[in-house]
This record gives sequence, structure tokens and C-alpha cells, in this order.
Amino acid sequence: MTISETAARVREEFTAAIADAVTLETLEQVRVAALGKKGPVSDLMRGLGGMSPEERKEAGPLLNNLKRELGKAIEARRGALKKAALDARLVEERIDVTAPVRPETVGSVHPVSQVLDEITEIFADMGLEVAEGPDIETDFNNFTALNIPPEHPARQMHDTFYFPEQDDGSKLVLRTHTSPVQIRTMMGGPPPYRIVIPGRTYRCDYDMTHTPMFHQIEGLVVDRETHMGHLKGCLIDFTRAFFEVADLPLRFRPSYFPFTEPSAEVDIGCTTSGGKFRAGHQGNDDDGWMEILGCGMVHSRVLANCGLDPGEYQGFAFGMGIDRLAMLKYGILDLRAFFDSDLRWLRHYSFAALDLPSLGQGLSR
Ligand code: DAH
Repeated sequence: MTISETAARVREEFTAAIADAVTLETLEQVRVAALGKKGPVSDLMRGLGGMSPEERKEAGPLLNNLKRELGKAIEARRGALKKAALDARLVEERIDVTAPVRPETVGSVHPVSQVLDEITEIFADMGLEVAEGPDIETDFNNFTALNIPPEHPARQMHDTFYFPEQDDGSKLVLRTHTSPVQIRTMMGGPPPYRIVIPGRTYRCDYDMTHTPMFHQIEGLVVDRETHMGHLKGCLIDFTRAFFEVADLPLRFRPSYFPFTEPSAEVDIGCTTSGGKFRAGHQGNDDDGWMEILGCGMVHSRVLANCGLDPGEYQGFAFGMGIDRLAMLKYGILDLRAFFDSDLRWLRHYSFAALDLPSLGQGLSR
């Protein structure tokens, strides 16, 4: 048999096999049988080496053609089989747009996240930016730089979680408040600073109103002429916006914090009739006061500890518990429930991520 006869037979045999393949798998088997290393085409090609130059001149293009043709036929068949498979699926998997909507669980916003967003938005409107720091802090940033030296009684009050002693004798801590980020900010570059600092904080404490991990938000405003009037205005505007009571009474009570001088605690007017907290005074006997935050003018020693000249710069700071504000605003009684991840609790107290009605709700209304 001449080489062209052999080529014609191979072509005929495999063209038929390609046409007969009805699945992608059998087609692949045909491809390997025809064009694989052990197939007839490779076999014939190997024979080229032993041919005379004239024979090779004729056989070479012939075999190349054969190989190309079979390859093309296989590709064409593959395309046809794929399209047929897709067509079959499209017929089979018809979408029934009249079927009822399946119940769908949608994620929602945790009250801590909600209140954090509300608070940062109010301060953002006043021009304060968000700053953050790590949960694990040095003793220096958490205490010493904030004018709480090693033997200071405030250290005991903080119920600190300490890490094991390091080689140099110092211990890292889980930050007991967000105030160390004040230090990081002031050491990081020159004023002005206008920041709020939200974050997780830790103290060894556990009851209805305390959990070992909780959230605080801290404010720091430092410039050349920032004064206590700015502090008061800032907090009056904030509390009114947050509690949504336009004439919310506010009381600045002298207090003590090592890192501010003078220091104050801020109470908002409220009623607690029937055991229910409501912001604002109603002019009744049960009008009272609720402490919600601590604040003051940044202590000159804290400024100096951060390398700032207290003769040149001054400013105010404040700090408050985010979880506590969430409890007050949304009537949540037990702080521990915030971190239990109980779905029933979360569904009750969480907030819609987007206040848009879903299509499902829209249709069923
Ligand atoms: N760091 C204080 C605490 O955790 C809260 C606080 C009070 C922060 C007064 C301040 C401040 O920045 O000025 O109890």
C-alpha cells in the first residue's frame, strides 16, 4: 500500500469514528487513538526519517495535512457536542419565574456596629477622623504615658489582663481603654489632631453590665487654641444628635482622670420611670441623671510625654463605652447577650443592613 493509500484509510476510519462519537469522553478517546503518540499518524510520521528525500517530499505534506484535518474535525465535533449539551441543559433546567420565593436569611447589623456607625458619623460631621490602634499594647502607651505611673491606684482599677513578662522585664497588656491611641497619635506627628478612636478594650470583669471584652470610643482634639468651651460644645452637640433629643439636658460634673486636667464626667438628663430608660427630662418627679462619658483637657504631662510643648498646644479628650450607649439607646438590659451570638437575640436587636424592601417582601405585601 502506498503512503497516500494508507493516509486515505486512516482519514476514512477516523473521520467515521469522530462522527460516531456522541459524548465528549468518547471523542477524547478517538483523539488519543488517532493523534496520540501511539496512534497511526505519529507512526507514519516516524516513518519519514527512513525515506528517500523524494519520498519524503511527497509524504511530508500529505501526513501534515492528514494530521491537521483530523485535528480540525475533532475540534468541530467537540464544539458541536458542547453546544448540544448546553442546549439540552437549557431545555431541561427551565427557570420557573412563577415559583414562590424561597425564604432567605439575610445578614443584619449588630447593635454594637450600628451604634459605632451612628457615633462616628456624628463626629465625622464635626470634622473628626477615625484613628485606630492595636488591641495588644505596651504598658507605656496604656498607662505610663497617660500619666498613670507604675504604682498609681488607677492601674488596680483597670483589672488589666497582662501578658507574661518580656526579656526586658516589661509586660504587654490587652489595652484597658482606647486612650493609648491618643499617645500613638501624638507621638506620630505634630498637631492639629481631630480624631475619634473606636475599638475593642479589655478588663477582667463579668456581670450584667461588664464583659471582659467591650468597646469604647475616644475623642482627641488638640490644636493651639482648643479650649474647654470647644469640649462642651462638641459633647452637647454629640449627645443631642445621638439620643435624638433636641434640648437634652447635660451636666458636666467635676471628676478625676490621670490624663486630663481639669476632668469631668458627663451626665445626660433622663427618666427611668417603670424601669425604662428614656433620654431627656419630662418635668416630672422621676427626672434623673445618667453618667455616659468621661472627658477633660489633655493633661500637660501627657502632652509633654508625647514630645509636645504644653505651652504651645492644648486640647481635649473624651471617652465612652459604645456597648453601654447601645444598651441605653435601644433598651438592652444585659450586656453579656451582645457577645453570646444567640441568633434569636440577634434577629430581635440587630438592624437591617440596607433599608430597602426586598423583591420577596414587595410582592407579598
Ligand atoms: N479612658 C477612660 C476609661 O476607660 C475614659 C476616658 C475618660 C477617656 C476621660 C478620655 C477622657 O479620653 O478624657 O475609663
